[in-house]
Amino acid sequence: MKTNSEARILDITENSAYEKYLYKCLAPMPFRKYRKRCEYLEAATPKGFHKKLIIFNEEIVGQIEYAPAEASYYPISGDNVIVMNCIWVLRKAKGHNFGKRLFADMIESEKDTDGFATIALENHWSPWLKKWQMEKLGFKSFDSFRVTRKLKHKGECFKIHLMWLPIAKNLKLPAWNKSKLLEGVNSCTAHPLYHPEKTTLRKIFEKC
Ligand SMILES: CC(C)(COP(=O)(O)OP(=O)(O)OC[C@H]1O[C@@H](n2cnc3c(N)ncnc32)[C@H](O)[C@@H]1OP(=O)(O)O)[C@@H](O)C(=O)NCCC(=O)NCCS
Repeated sequence: MKTNSEARILDITENSAYEKYLYKCLAPMPFRKYRKRCEYLEAATPKGFHKKLIIFNEEIVGQIEYAPAEASYYPISGDNVIVMNCIWVLRKAKGHNFGKRLFADMIESEKDTDGFATIALENHWSPWLKKWQMEKLGFKSFDSFRVTRKLKHKGECFKIHLMWLPIAKNLKLPAWNKSKLLEGVNSCTAHPLYHPEKTTLRKIFEKC
């Protein structure tokens, strides 16, 4: 745990006192141990998944979640690459560099990693995972494709970017499986690419 007078970062990956935050993030959603998330955590935790909270004046105001590429919930691959599944700082806690602190903590905790990857969205209707925000943290886009959702918002195209922050020099870039990403993300219900449990579609997005 890192501390200063006002805020501390806490790794809750295997801390039962904060178990609900492994499942529900900071979104005001009911805590539910849903099957896909349970399966994801069971598989990813032994492979190096981490979830951390930032606590400010005893209030949880931010989180970060990451794992080695092979244990990420995005179809990104790369040797010795960590994939950030998610980072989120509540709007009311902005202006304290908490996003940068969570991000720096991940980099510091994964010192032997060659590079960090994530995805970002451009022109998505939600306020989530915006490309410019991921750029502010230090990522750069090196590939993208345009998609639309087959369910609600059909016909509204947005871009998904593969974002990259190399640490080592002369690295091979990570790869991503765009076709697999069209299935969406099924282990975070608050995610803008969430694959609803109810749908019978395998791919909830298509290229546009
Ligand atoms: C991206 C995010 C984590 C950054 O955290 P933060 O605590 O707000 O930002 P920080 O205070 O650490 O600042 C990071 C940088 O972004 C800049 N920044 C933050 N908000 C900004 C804004 N609204 N406009 C312009 N710049 C902004 C800061 O000035 C800083 O840049 P600098 O290094 O050049 O000074 C936060 O904005 C966030 O949670 N966004 C939503 C992420 C998301 O979609 N998560 C998925 C949920 S499903």
